[in-house]
Amino acid sequence: MTMAKTLSLAIVATSVSLAAIGLASPASADMKPALAALGPPPVPADNLQTPEKIELGKLLFFDSRIGGDASVSCADCHMSKQGWGFNDPISRGYPGVIHWRNSQTVINSAYLGKLFWTGSAKSLENQAPAAALGAVSGNGERDMVEARLAFIPEYVKRFNQVFGDDWPKVNNVWKAMAAFERTLIHDNTPFDKYMRGDKGALNAQQVRGLELFQGKANCIECHNGPLLTDQKYYNLGLPRAEDWSTSGLAQITFRYEQYAKGVTEEMYRKIKDDAGLYYRTKEKSDMGKFRTPPLRYTAYTAPFMHNGAFFDFGEVVDFYNSGGGSNEFTDGTMAANKTKLLKPLGLTDGEKEDLMAFLDSLSGPEIKMLTPKLPPYAPLPAMAN
Ligand code: HEC
Ligand code: HEC
Repeated sequence: MTMAKTLSLAIVATSVSLAAIGLASPASADMKPALAALGPPPVPADNLQTPEKIELGKLLFFDSRIGGDASVSCADCHMSKQGWGFNDPISRGYPGVIHWRNSQTVINSAYLGKLFWTGSAKSLENQAPAAALGAVSGNGERDMVEARLAFIPEYVKRFNQVFGDDWPKVNNVWKAMAAFERTLIHDNTPFDKYMRGDKGALNAQQVRGLELFQGKANCIECHNGPLLTDQKYYNLGLPRAEDWSTSGLAQITFRYEQYAKGVTEEMYRKIKDDAGLYYRTKEKSDMGKFRTPPLRYTAYTAPFMHNGAFFDFGEVVDFYNSGGGSNEFTDGTMAANKTKLLKPLGLTDGEKEDLMAFLDSLSGPEIKMLTPKLPPYAPLPAMAN
């Protein structure tokens, strides 16, 4: 109730302020937030950035001792050399399994209010434990993480300096990781420079692509604002992930996730596609919906989409040009849910090239980082002599 009330007030307030600055007109009743250069990311008041905290977070992000069997770190699925994601359609998983979704880049995740493909975490501080403890990703245990860190003198010292901990506290592991992720920012792309006024930053083809993005191709409908996402959920009718019919391991993870997310027995047996937002809401109308991803840094993050269905911009643009997909959910629900916002676009080959050239302008130089030298465990007492 209160939520709905606040929301409608907020909407009124927005249209008033748009009108006040002369932007609203009858024809732009559903005007979308304008594309813009990226500013600095928000930082929560209870987890302020300090150089020492960021450095600690970096070590922890690269440290596989956070993972269950001490062999998998955040950086193993978010590899700096693979766009800070993982370049298989479906991500690698915890040793022995594969994941069930495409690994997302952590670049610019600092700006998102809804993390993961279905927005199941609301902050980086809440996202990190889901990743580190989730069965098919880090598969860790809180007490095990604390126990291991307590045996690493360098961490004991650093957690004390940064957080005042007597020994490393697991909740501060998440805070430090989040602080590090808030430094993985990609805000100086040719597109950003152009939006800040450097008109030479985009070439003529990219400028035409930008116009198509906001016009004929209507990408702006969902990819809008400085992040190029509205952070809403849509079903695009994507083709089925190939792995789910060809890889036994992928099948197992897929079935496990149905069970873990509590679907009905009938659905467990029949389902052939990721039901997306449905798992969180259990509303049929949410079947197959996923959060619109931001589009910066995508030159490095293929394959695309929650199931890695497309390998390059050409495939993505062809998909949208034909009005999206027509994947039928086993019981017909998926197709019924497909967004009405996608329609055949009728782009010429030249226009497709222009659009792809614009997508390229959303990525600047690659953000590279070497694995830092990680602190060792304390020597065993027997070895100290
Ligand atoms: C085994 C692989 C794996 C590991 C380990 C892993 N991740 Fe991920 N990460 C993924 C996948 C796959 C997704 C998308 C999953 C989904 O949406 O269900 C993801 C999503 C994310 C996102 C969301 C980005 C966005 O756009 O919403 C962030 C942030 C992230 N991971 C950070 C981390 C951190 C921090 C760690 C270490 C604590 C970590 N990940 C460990 C595979 C992994
Ligand atoms: C109706 C909303 C909507 C419209 C319109 C739309 N998109 Fe998307 N886009 C999405 C959603 C949602 C996803 C993720 C879908 C999924 O994984 O299931 C996505 C994914 C993408 C991706 C993959 C990004 C990644 O990290 O995997 C690219 C690239 C992309 N869109 C480009 C475009 C372009 C170019 C256009 C215009 C031709 C466009 N989109 C129009 C909602 C939209």
